[in-house]
Amino acid sequence: MRIIGIESSAHTLGIGIVSSGKVLANKKLMYDVGTTGMIPNKVAEFHIGNISTVIKAAVEGAGIRITDIDGVGYTRGPGLGPCLSVGQLAAKTIAATIGVPIAPVNHGIGHIEIAKAFSHTKDPLVIYVSGGNSQILKRHGRRYRVLGETFDIGIGNMFDSFARKLKLSPAWGSTVEKKAKGGRYMAMPFTVKGMDFSFTGLQTHAAKLAGKASENDVCFSLRETAFAMVCEAAERAILLTNSRELIVCGGVAQSARLQEMLHDVAREHRVRFGFAPNEYNADNGAMIAYVAERMLQNGADTPLNECDIEQRYRLENVVVY
Ligand code: FE2
Repeated sequence: MRIIGIESSAHTLGIGIVSSGKVLANKKLMYDVGTTGMIPNKVAEFHIGNISTVIKAAVEGAGIRITDIDGVGYTRGPGLGPCLSVGQLAAKTIAATIGVPIAPVNHGIGHIEIAKAFSHTKDPLVIYVSGGNSQILKRHGRRYRVLGETFDIGIGNMFDSFARKLKLSPAWGSTVEKKAKGGRYMAMPFTVKGMDFSFTGLQTHAAKLAGKASENDVCFSLRETAFAMVCEAAERAILLTNSRELIVCGGVAQSARLQEMLHDVAREHRVRFGFAPNEYNADNGAMIAYVAERMLQNGADTPLNECDIEQRYRLENVVVY
């Protein structure tokens, strides 16, 4: 099967093509957040203006024609409504035009399953960290069970909104990471309860220090504290579940520092640790195509008139194939 996957839940417009679990193409364009962050309708306009170009690039990159596609996947949610609608409409149009089945995919399941594929893990404890999500999960039967998660905002959103407060451009966590270089540690609020965590207190504290303390020191301390919170919760989850494999996935999993810290935790507990290349931790279409292929192979296609979007689509409600 050759499956096209469309990801449009937030700033990234990604189109991937997958065949038998192998990525044939993974093309993307990203909306420039500047210093203001994402305005949903503006991002959706960007996706509408670029989607045919990115689809064409992916099809050409895979060395096929659009009529060679055997199935379509798109991100059903979670995400920004106007942005999700663009991918949903494009996916339904392709499926209806060439007469192939379609599968609505949960964005988080996409992140997890592509990371499992690249890390060659079977039943890992999952650390899913992105803009909107921060969860610790373990598969139980056909579904993922949430063992721990953020009480308030996702770790990525915490970094992004801190970057906006500092007027960093682009206002991303990765810019905060760059500013952290050479910083010295200052104590910051550390909120882990069991395997859950909370980031707003940390964010407020760091934002109050902006302009009063060295920017490097604040960025460094914010990053180290936030990642140490994730590592502590991960360590508790390893001990609770007796997991022998650990993966990290999602946009924040691109952080070399987080990878390093989780690797240390894994080594200490003699757990195998893995993650996908950065291209697949950032939002992308290949992860959606990858999950859609499994769904379609297992008869989990959806009638076109039932292909909706769900802005708050929780991943523990999804059957995994
Ligand atoms: Fe994501």
